[in-house]
Amino acid sequence: MIYSKKICVIGLGYIGLPTAALLANRGYDVHGVDVVQSTVEIINRGEIHIVEPELDTFVKAAVNSGKLKADLKPAAADVFIIAVPTPFHEGYVPNIDYVVSATKAIVPYVKKGDIVILESTSPVGTTDKVEDVLKEEGIDTSKLYIAHCPERVLPGHIMRELVENDRIVGGTTPEATKATVEFYNTFVDGEVLSTDAKTAEMAKLTENSFRDTNIAFANELSILCDKFDIDVWELIALANRHPRVNILQPGAGVGGHCIAVDPWFIVHAGGKAAKMIRTAREVNTYKTEWAIEKIKNAALEFENEHGRKAKVACMGLAFKPDIDDLRESPALYITRRLISDGLDVLAVEPNVEGFKEFALVNYNNALEQADVITFLVAHKEFKNLNTQTELDFCGVLN
Ligand SMILES: NC(=O)c1ccc[n+]([C@@H]2O[C@H](COP(=O)([O-])OP(=O)(O)OC[C@H]3O[C@@H](n4cnc5c(N)ncnc54)[C@H](O)[C@@H]3O)[C@@H](O)[C@H]2O)c1
Repeated sequence: MIYSKKICVIGLGYIGLPTAALLANRGYDVHGVDVVQSTVEIINRGEIHIVEPELDTFVKAAVNSGKLKADLKPAAADVFIIAVPTPFHEGYVPNIDYVVSATKAIVPYVKKGDIVILESTSPVGTTDKVEDVLKEEGIDTSKLYIAHCPERVLPGHIMRELVENDRIVGGTTPEATKATVEFYNTFVDGEVLSTDAKTAEMAKLTENSFRDTNIAFANELSILCDKFDIDVWELIALANRHPRVNILQPGAGVGGHCIAVDPWFIVHAGGKAAKMIRTAREVNTYKTEWAIEKIKNAALEFENEHGRKAKVACMGLAFKPDIDDLRESPALYITRRLISDGLDVLAVEPNVEGFKEFALVNYNNALEQADVITFLVAHKEFKNLNTQTELDFCGVLN
């Protein structure tokens, strides 16, 4: 199969922009599309609107060479890659509205022989839905190659992992799988594995649910260890010396727009059959509530002892260490709850500047002023601090 050289990437966020920039640097003509005007303008200046190492160099080179152009509208292409958000509605109901509207947007441009790839993390059946939407809009989908290829990059290492990671490709037909695998093989060094669309969708959800379940196990252990007066970090380190045990680390909950979201896609469709995956989500959510209670109790104890309200330092707001991403962050949720419940909070997040919702305090100042200190995220700045607290939910002092 011979590929012509035009790619249209819909959605220029953490996944779409690095993909578009990588493809452009590999010689493809890339037409990037986003619905946000400022995003389009920034990219067309050769600049970036998100934080990701090396991405600026890739985008600058791609735009300067004329291989990458951003626009508010799609254009004719040989390969369409959809990389738009897939969050959930109220009640953890999957929201594929962005996928549907991105699919509708390409209708005027798709032609016989084109490849349409859904990269967004998607509930099982979404790739078929893409095909249905195209059909409803009058496209003869038997002449297209439609496939799902979930993205599994780690933020902070996206440019490297886009090339090195193994990929899973599942087409709506074996021919679609084959054509899409051939496309990824032109720029991926990892192995590109073939399956069908539903299995590819479920594989991505499974990967994130596996991690969520393992972390839930660690979080449950942390609550049990608190009850038994055992150091959970030591316990897990010891248990992990078993050659076939690998327990992940507990924390203040589980956050981010992937692990805290994707398992719900399985639960929503699986109902009662998704018992363990649902329970893992519930355990991880409960861990956050448990942490809030522990912090409030410590503040109350201080108040009873000293006759004044405690100043509580919340160390870290991001959903994991050393990033500025606050999406679905349990640390941010805890801090918000403590503030709304009337506690006197000193919020610390060294990776964020100018937070609008409440004032942020430098971590040294917070530690000096605080009566109660809680570590919520294991940022590098917090390691080796000369301080002690029983409220170290992320094990940064260990
Ligand atoms: N960020 C990650 O680390 C990561 C990893 C693996 C998978 N994913 C998945 O990839 C998908 C995209 O995630 P992301 O992190 O890039 O999201 P993002 O929010 O960073 O970017 C999505 C972009 O799509 C744009 N957009 C929304 N609707 C659009 C439309 N109809 N047409 C054109 N553009 C549109 C938004 O303006 C935004 O710029 C999601 O399904 C996510 O779960 C993300």
